[in-house]
Amino acid sequence: MSEQPQRGSSRLSGFYRQSLAERAATVAQWAGLSEQDQAVLLGSEGLTPAQAEHMIENVIGLYALPFGVATNFLINGRDYLVPMVVEEPSIVAGVSFAARLARDGGGFTTSADAPVMIGQIQVLGVDNVYAAAGRVWEARARLLEEANCCDRVLVELGGGARDLELRPFPDTPAGPMLIVHLLFDVRDAMGANAINTTCERLAPIIEELTGGRVNLRILSNLADRRKAYAACTVPAESLGSDTLPGAKVVRAIVEAAVFAQIDPYRAATHNKGVMNGIDAVAIATGNDWRALEAGAHAWAARSGRYSALTEWRQDERGDLAGRIELPLAVGTVGGATRVHPAAQVALKILGTQSASELAQIMAAVGLAQNLAAIRALATEGIQRGHMSLHAKQMALAAGAAEDEVAVVAARMIEDGRITTQHAAEVLAALRGAQ
Ligand code: MEV
Repeated sequence: MSEQPQRGSSRLSGFYRQSLAERAATVAQWAGLSEQDQAVLLGSEGLTPAQAEHMIENVIGLYALPFGVATNFLINGRDYLVPMVVEEPSIVAGVSFAARLARDGGGFTTSADAPVMIGQIQVLGVDNVYAAAGRVWEARARLLEEANCCDRVLVELGGGARDLELRPFPDTPAGPMLIVHLLFDVRDAMGANAINTTCERLAPIIEELTGGRVNLRILSNLADRRKAYAACTVPAESLGSDTLPGAKVVRAIVEAAVFAQIDPYRAATHNKGVMNGIDAVAIATGNDWRALEAGAHAWAARSGRYSALTEWRQDERGDLAGRIELPLAVGTVGGATRVHPAAQVALKILGTQSASELAQIMAAVGLAQNLAAIRALATEGIQRGHMSLHAKQMALAAGAAEDEVAVVAARMIEDGRITTQHAAEVLAALRGAQ
């Protein structure tokens, strides 16, 4: 039985201090999760080995990861709790903190392109690629009509073939090559199957038109027709502290962003931080995070020099303004999104079945995750926040029981020695004192 959601503000103060059971109950009420959904989250239900058996080959079991929820997100005036599945400490806390900062400036504004994917058909064995391109272009209407025959349901939903693009490469190490792009609207799907099937269907017609030989027929992960955009403004005073004026923090964050714009070595790490957030939402919702990674990094290198996915500047009022723009080919239908019970619960928590909305949320998460990282790096450094969770992991690894973890971790931080050996020493001392 599904309860009525009681979505209020996503600014759930003190959420992180609640017990796991209390947090699960809060989110269940917020999003209207059923008992079954809650059982999926807590691991007593969920993906079964029998279901896994239908997902990949040679299955021998299941693999669990932490499922967290980021708070404070306000996107286009709507509150969201954002499901994140990730193994790295500080990501969920960091992004929630950054979403709170953005909230002070009115939250995130997002948008997305139509869900148009690119399918590529590689044609070889044509002497004159320009003439071959001309013949394909003349048959554009026929090819688009044929492309729409593969999936009538998708066409009825408003999707389907949109256009062709022709990319002649007269001189390659494999001889003259014509690449035909099929632009195809996949609606709420990620679209890989729809695109690949359609490209395979068009290939014989393209061979007939060009007199050439088709080799590959596959979607492009550089989904630059399907980008998502997010922007936010953080008031300078929200960034300041007793010891550090907001204006100084704004400047330091802008300097950090410029570093990533000009230097690929920094851009790789900067963008890894962006993808920390995006991938965690992708995994939670059953999306193909490798596809997103491929698209994001190819987009970041589009100028010929790998650069940052985000931009941060000081606006005319002295506040911090940031934006992100990147390809985000995500779906809410098909694939693991449909099969994995936890992915269904994740979409319920988000309160959406729209792929476009999901992509926009992910763009906001990527921007927020980046803000969290560069704010920390440009002020106190990343290790302080990181160390408390790291210390807890060490305490757990040393065998601390649930009620001992926090004490052991706090002591290690106080001693400035966060090592497995010290965790064992502190634990032994604690037990000896009892
Ligand atoms: C760590 O997972 C991510 C960061 O390195 C990102 C960054 O440096 O911007 C903190």
